[in-house]
Amino acid sequence: MDNIVFQVDGHLAEITINRPKALNALNSATLKELQVVIEEIANNSEIRVVILTGSGKKAFVAGADITEMKEMNAIEARAFGRLGQKVFSSLENLPQVVIAAVNGFALGGGCELSMACDMRLASTKAKFGQPEVGLGITPGFAGTQRLPRLVGKGRAKELIYTADVIDAQEAYRIGLVNKIYEPEELLDKARELAHKIISKGPCAVSLAKSAINNGLNMDTESAFNYEAEIFGLCFATKDQKEGMAAFVDKRKADFKGC
Ligand code: CAA
Repeated sequence: MDNIVFQVDGHLAEITINRPKALNALNSATLKELQVVIEEIANNSEIRVVILTGSGKKAFVAGADITEMKEMNAIEARAFGRLGQKVFSSLENLPQVVIAAVNGFALGGGCELSMACDMRLASTKAKFGQPEVGLGITPGFAGTQRLPRLVGKGRAKELIYTADVIDAQEAYRIGLVNKIYEPEELLDKARELAHKIISKGPCAVSLAKSAINNGLNMDTESAFNYEAEIFGLCFATKDQKEGMAAFVDKRKADFKGC
């Protein structure tokens, strides 16, 4: 792959968007490579947590590739938007947990990519924003949908209508990021968080993700029913047997998988 570095170490996978000369901007080729990596992760049940970051010190992802978009007609732009939406949805719906380690600019498609992850850890140097209206376009990789769901409608509208770029502290204040770290400790902290999640029941974590993600797209009663199904399903897993046996035996659980 030309634009992505993908590494697996035990239960942890790391994806690095690697176009530093273009501040890791997402062109079609990079989106397609990302889709291939996501499918590989989906088919590898050894992987439990994924960290997604950008290469270099300056950017996570500075947006969709403006040079490529500049020449697009309406039909091509719609297809490009659909491609980004599809890739980000498959990332969001992975059975594994995905942590964004936002090491710099996360603008436009970059902010949208981080929002398709389960959690966002930011470096003190990270900057977030949806600057699209300044380019005469709207956010196109589901930012109009994920941002209001994360930070509320009023704040999302303010960010999108003004194209303001906010720093990590402000992103933390409005609930867009979970934690902020110094740049040199960001990846270690992301790995620490990943290993904490890896040490828990892998089926339980994955089922909890499914309950949250799918439940939020349902009416409340259906979501409660879905949660009850998921909760019941846990009792058919080795995770539940081992987790509860370990508690009763007063020892640390040793989860091996479903
Ligand atoms: N697309 C293509 N190339 C990009 C890019 C992008 N989104 N962002 C940066 N680059 C390129 C620059 O063109 C530049 O390339 P050259 O060296 O060949 O000129 C290189 O990366 C370095 O960028 P700058 O010289 O601009 O670096 P800077 O430090 O002065 O500024 C920045 C950094 C503020 C992030 C600035 O690059 C910038 O504003 N980038 C665009 C951000 C943006 O508008 N993103 C949204 C895109 S639209 C979108 O994402 C739509 C969607 O939802 C699908």
